[in-house]
Parts: sequence; structure tokens; C-alpha cells
Amino acid sequence: MHIGIIGTGRLGSFRARTMRDLADVTNLTLYDRNWSKSTAVAHELEAMVAGSVEEVIDAKPDALLISTSTVDHATLVETGVEAGLPVFCEKPISLDLAATERLMQQVSASGVQVQVGFQRRFDMGFRMAREKVFNGELGRIYLVRMVGHDHEPPPESFIKRSGGMYKDMHIHEFDLIPWIVGQPIVEVYASGSVLVDQAFQRQGDVDTTAAVLKLAEGALVVLTGSRHNPLGYDVRMELHGSGDSVSVGWDKRAPIRPLETEREGGSAPYLTFFDRFNDAYRAELVEFLRVARGEIESPSTVKESWQSLRVAVAAEMSLIDHRPVSVNSVV
Ligand SMILES: NC(=O)c1ccc[n+]([C@@H]2O[C@H](COP(=O)([O-])OP(=O)(O)OC[C@H]3O[C@@H](n4cnc5c(N)ncnc54)[C@H](O)[C@@H]3O)[C@@H](O)[C@H]2O)c1
Repeated sequence: MHIGIIGTGRLGSFRARTMRDLADVTNLTLYDRNWSKSTAVAHELEAMVAGSVEEVIDAKPDALLISTSTVDHATLVETGVEAGLPVFCEKPISLDLAATERLMQQVSASGVQVQVGFQRRFDMGFRMAREKVFNGELGRIYLVRMVGHDHEPPPESFIKRSGGMYKDMHIHEFDLIPWIVGQPIVEVYASGSVLVDQAFQRQGDVDTTAAVLKLAEGALVVLTGSRHNPLGYDVRMELHGSGDSVSVGWDKRAPIRPLETEREGGSAPYLTFFDRFNDAYRAELVEFLRVARGEIESPSTVKESWQSLRVAVAAEMSLIDHRPVSVNSVV
């Protein structure tokens, strides 16, 4: 298969390397508006380089992968869909609800498959959790606890265009929770502080968050977020139900130090999302190739992304207004 990749920055270059490793991928055409980035990756991977998005499309790839900064995602997805190409796009699809809704309608009318890059859906632990909820082993879900803590805070240039804690970072949890528990998030009560770096304050963002989410059947979620954890990159989940209590991410590399016992075998804690989700990133691209071959429908749709963005907007409103916000009130 021939894959066109737009954006070969931090994640796009990793995507290109992952694609290059997959047996089905024979050709890559890369484009980044920073020419030196695409040529460096193309040289390493023996890929072709295009000078524009149009040139990527003209190269007649079988599918398109969009890994640019968030601000251009929606327009580029639209271009791919108009060309009739199956598209993989990094999260979030847009920071704007109306733009996401428009794209959702366009994608649905076109019949073209678009997969949004929520790689946690391909993590073995999260998949097992979902299976246990869906096969009834956990019984009625009472409580969920989730942690999303970065190792080091990003630079201010990133904070400025990221969309903030909820649309950039917690969007992962807002996507994952309904997918695992099988219930939409209906209400959000969010609070936040700036404790890590004043750059977040300057950009109108927070770096430390706690939120209580209510799911459609009454289960409660307690979610915490931080842009700094000195030990590493920490993503964990606990599910407590009437039938069982389980956790995801509490393995020997979890970047938190138990005080009563020694960490087993001196395992190095996870430091980055590449480290924590390496297998999941690969698995989601393997799945995308199946989407591109027409074997399956997108496992992570624009419609679902629109829903998770609504939750992120509700969280922002709650943070500002100091009150619980119903997700249905976000239009
Ligand atoms: N799923 C995840 O865990 C995860 C992790 C990190 C980033 N992301 C998402 O991936 C995206 C990229 O993040 P990153 O950290 O790689 O950013 P980055 O800034 O390192 O890379 C973005 C690249 O896109 C290029 N670019 C920007 N606009 C372009 C355009 N219109 N046409 C062509 N090239 C363009 C830039 O020159 C740059 O090389 C973001 O949307 C981010 O939210 C997802």
C-alpha cells in the first residue's frame, strides 16, 4: 500500500517509521511545510517527498495520514475526503465544535472512512477493561478513577496552540471513558490550578486538574490531570463495579512509588507517551490499514470525536463558572 503522510514533526515522523515497518506498506509520500523535516525523514525511510498537499494527492496514495498541528486537521481531512481517500487524523480533529460538526456531516455524506488517532483504544489493558465491562464481569459500574499525568510540561509555544488541558490532554479520557464503560458522559464538574508553570496562566490555561464526571447510568468518574510528574508519564484507570474491581496501568513501570514495598526488579518508569503506548500506536495503524483496504469501518469516528469535544467544552465552562455543566447543554 502507498500511504501519504502530511506533517512529519514529533508524532508524524514516528507514524512514518511505524508505517515503514508494516509489511503491507510499500510506498510512503511525505509532506511537511517545513521542508527540512520531511526530507530528513524521507531520507531515513527511503520515502518520496512532496512539495504540497496537492502533490501528495497527485501521487495517488491508497490512504492519507494527517499528523500536522491541530489547527489544520479539519481542512486537511476535508481535502482527503474530497479526494475519496481513507484518512487517519491525529486527535483532536478540531478545537472548534461547529467545525467538527460540519466535518462529521461531510464525512458521513461522503461515505469515506476517517479514523481519529485515539491510540489508547488499542492498548491491551484498556481493551481488556472494555471487554470485562461488556461481558458483564464487572457488573454494575459504580466508580471509575483515571489519572493522566505528563512527565514534563510542554514549551509555552505548544501551550499557546494546544487548545488547553481539556481539549488537548483530557480529550483522551473523554474519548476513552464512554468507549470502555459503554455510557456517555452526561455531566462535568471541573476544577483547575496553575501549580507547575506560570506559562499556563499566561496562556489562559491550567496545569493541574481534577474533575468529577457523571455517566448516563449514574456511575461517577474521578479524573485527575497534571502537566508534571517528576517520576514519568502516568496514565492509569480503576473500575469498580458490583462484580469486580480492576485497574489498568498499575504495572511495574507505573511512575508512582509505593512506600510500603520496593518497585519490582528496578523497572524504569514510563517517561513518554511513545514509551507507554508504543504497542497501541502500532496496533491502531495496523487497524487503519484494514480500514483503508475496506475490510472494516473506522474504529474511532469523527462523530465520537465531536462527542468528546463537547465534554471538553463542558469542562472548560465548568472550570470558569465553578458549577457542574450538562454535556447536552453544549451545542
Ligand atoms: N495521540 C497522541 O498521543 C498524541 C501525542 C502527541 C501529539 N498528538 C497530536 O498530533 C498532532 C501533531 O503533534 P506533534 O507533537 O507531532 O506536533 P509537531 O509540532 O512536532 O509537528 C507538527 C508538524 O506538522 C507540520 N505542519 C503544520 N501544519 C502543516 C500543514 N498545514 N501542512 C504540512 N505540514 C504542517 C509542522 O511543520 C510540524 O513539522 C497534534 O494535533 C497533537 O495534538 C497526539
